[in-house]
This record gives sequence, structure tokens and C-alpha cells, in this order.
Amino acid sequence: MQIISTTQELRDRLKSEPSVAFVPTMGNLHEGHVSLVRQAREHGRCVVASIFVNPIQFGPGEDFDSYPRTLEADCAKLEGLADVVFAPAVSDLYPEPQQVFVEPPPVANELCGAFRPGHFRGVVTVVLKLLNIVQPQAAIFGMKDYQQLHVIRAMARQLNLPVEIVAGETLRAADGLALSSRNGYLSAEERIEAVRLYRNLGRVQESIVAGSKDYAALERTAVADLEAHGWRVDYVAVRAAESLLPAGADDTGLVVLAAAWLGRTRLIDNIEVCVSRRRSL
Ligand code: PAF
Repeated sequence: MQIISTTQELRDRLKSEPSVAFVPTMGNLHEGHVSLVRQAREHGRCVVASIFVNPIQFGPGEDFDSYPRTLEADCAKLEGLADVVFAPAVSDLYPEPQQVFVEPPPVANELCGAFRPGHFRGVVTVVLKLLNIVQPQAAIFGMKDYQQLHVIRAMARQLNLPVEIVAGETLRAADGLALSSRNGYLSAEERIEAVRLYRNLGRVQESIVAGSKDYAALERTAVADLEAHGWRVDYVAVRAAESLLPAGADDTGLVVLAAAWLGRTRLIDNIEVCVSRRRSL
């Protein structure tokens, strides 16, 4: 496995590769990332993982400075799985102030985007830069960041990028908590509490499968349960999986998404729901 830190060196290394599969990350890798890198092997002969904490997707007061940078440990986890780790410095990806941005679709201003203004603009901009540098035939993104996956897919489609965007399943701890680099911020007590987010998503899913269509009431119940246990909730939302727009009674492919703060840690999670249409006789 080669560790490369400049764009030029990476371009030279990949020039003669017939097919590249790419996993962009911000590092501090856990088993969820590792499973995306394993999955990448099915999509290209050369597997590239990037590790880059992207300043332009963090807002003022967010955790850009404190985001864990663990390059050595990350590379140890990728040994034998990736062929190349691309870990550029900020000055390599942003040699001059970034003034050209990708404008994500309007849905990027909802859900997480409503609480993190400019976040998805920073994400799609860096992802486009990375795709232009790596030029993979496939790029793998985790479904835990469901809205991120949605806006990246929209960008790839609408900007005609010659890349297949592949979704990777969310990996969960034994109690159901979605694996996330930010779980490392949780105290021991918060870690036990953290699974409540997923349990609430599961309850909303069960109620919908059982026939409930009052999505607003289900959202309110989940928010109330979280708040009663000390969470500060950004949102719990039932959305159409295809569009991420508010779910209508006729939508059959749904997703329940949530973001909430437990102490100083913001956790996000989601669960898909497939509603079977009942025929009326
Ligand atoms: O999901 C992430 O880790 C980041 O948002 C990404 C896609 C690597 C862009 O910085």
C-alpha cells in the first residue's frame, strides 16, 4: 500500500491504472469505513482511499479543529485493503482560496443542511475535486450519511460525471448504534444512551409498516422521547427515499432521518422503510 500526499504524485501513480475504485473519507477510520474499502475491491482493480478533513464543509464553531487526525492508525487499518492512501495537506487541495463551488440541489438546504448552512456545498465541492483527481470508475459512500449520498448522486448525475456512485451499508455496534467517527466524542454514559436515536427510528419504522400515515405525529413522538432523555434534537423526519422531500401518503419507499445532540456530540442516523400498498377491494 502506498501513501501519497500530493495531487501530482497521485495522478502519476494512477495514470496507467485501467480501473480505480475510490473511497473518500475524513479519516479516524472505523469498521464502517473498512467495509466500504472492502466493497470498493468489487468495483475496480486499484482501490484508493482518501483521508482529508475538508475545511470548507465545516461551519464556524463546528469541530474542524478538534476532528481527530489519526493518519498512522488509519493507514494500519487500510493495509492489505487499499492499494493507495491519498492524504493531502489542505494546501495541496486548496493551493489558493476556493472561489469556485458546486451548488448542491435545494434539498441540501433541508434536514442537516438547515442546521449546517453551506455544509453540503463544501462536501460536493471537495468530492468533485477528489473525483477529478482520482478519476475513478466507482466511488463508494456510506448510507449513514444518507443526505450526503443523495446530493452526491444528484451532482454526479446532473454534471454527467463518468463515475458510478455506490452506496455502502451502515455498520452498527451490537446495540444498534451506527458506527461513526464522532462516537469517539461520547462519554461512557452517553455511549449507553446513544442507541436511543436508532431505537426511535426503529419505532417510527414499525409504526409506518403497521399502517400509520401520520408522519408528523410519529416525528413528534420520537422528538419528545429524545428530549425527555436529555437530547437536543435538530430533526426527526420521514421523507421519500428517492427525493428526500417530505413523504406523501402514496410514497412507498421512505426513509426516516434524524440528527440530534447528546451532550456536545451531534449524531445522525437513518432507516429505510418500505411500505406495501394495501389494495382496497
Ligand atoms: O463523509 C465524509 O467523510 C465526508 O463528508 C467526505 C465525503 C469524505 C467529503 O469530505
